[in-house]
Amino acid sequence: MHKETILTGITTTGTPHLGNYVGAILPAIAASRRDDVKTYYFLADFHSLVKCQDAERVQRSTLEVAATWLAAGLDTGQSIFYRQSDIPEITELTWILTCMTAKGLMNRAHAYKSAVDENLNAQETDPDKGITMGLFCYPILMAADILMFNANKVPVGKDQVQHLEMTRDIAARFNYHYDEHFALPEAVVDESAAVLLGLDGRKMSKSYNNTIPLFTPPDPLRKLILKIKTNSQLPGEPKNPNACILFAIYQAFASEHEVIAMRKRYAEGIGWGEMKQTLFEFLDDRLATPRERYEALLRAPDHIEQVLREGAAKAREYSAPFLQRIRQAVGIRPVGG
Ligand code: TRP
Repeated sequence: MHKETILTGITTTGTPHLGNYVGAILPAIAASRRDDVKTYYFLADFHSLVKCQDAERVQRSTLEVAATWLAAGLDTGQSIFYRQSDIPEITELTWILTCMTAKGLMNRAHAYKSAVDENLNAQETDPDKGITMGLFCYPILMAADILMFNANKVPVGKDQVQHLEMTRDIAARFNYHYDEHFALPEAVVDESAAVLLGLDGRKMSKSYNNTIPLFTPPDPLRKLILKIKTNSQLPGEPKNPNACILFAIYQAFASEHEVIAMRKRYAEGIGWGEMKQTLFEFLDDRLATPRERYEALLRAPDHIEQVLREGAAKAREYSAPFLQRIRQAVGIRPVGG
């Protein structure tokens, strides 16, 4: 049976937070347990260099992201879990694809355009000021990540949909010119996955600095929960759970039954102080076991290194022979035969 391939990458620039967990990590792990699909999950460390030139932070984030996925229950027997930089075929494919990519296509990338707009708004004489070729070519590296494994479905956030369209464009051009080598992938934006709001009520995101790190110890966890913005309603006043960050976080982790019970407490006018304490105890309880695993993993970086290398070896069983065919197709081949 030909299994569908699901693939996604995680840029290693920060510490995973609650929003990543419910929006991306848990759904990815659930998918990895299906036996009708093949899953590839990887740490996009080369992508992280575009945004982050702090070497320690790149290394630390790679460790933390890997430990998070393993602690959250990813089974590396079911899923191929690797680090992008361990797959030399990806960077090689990036160049080959770069030569099949219209510069105009990259000019239209949202991330690049908004960097240019910022310069123009700041009255810079050079619209490309501070923009690296890494930022400009980011979508091509991402296309290589995806096409390297002939992924069919790519779970991503809405902000990445354009990159998938570009990947399809690049793949189609390659296929047209050199013959059908690449599957055309599709973005999968899970509308049903919870999008958690952060401390200040905007989407929880490291770019807003409003996150709750997933495995933060109990004390800082309590402090962060206390900081979550609420309205000025008093205890005893019935409250609307649907417009409440605390409730949304609770809901993302709770069973249906627990959610119903909590809605009732909102109707009865639970006070914000009490709700914050309840949410803290609830999260602390749900996260205690994976947090212990996470901490143990962080203390064993050599073990994680080993896991990633094994993952890379498995990934390369696919990428190495496939890249040989691509090289062959474009004429990078022995002169004799
Ligand atoms: N650009 C993605 C993000 O910022 C991360 C990423 C890199 C990725 N390569 C990928 C996602 C390949 C999916 C497939 O979220």
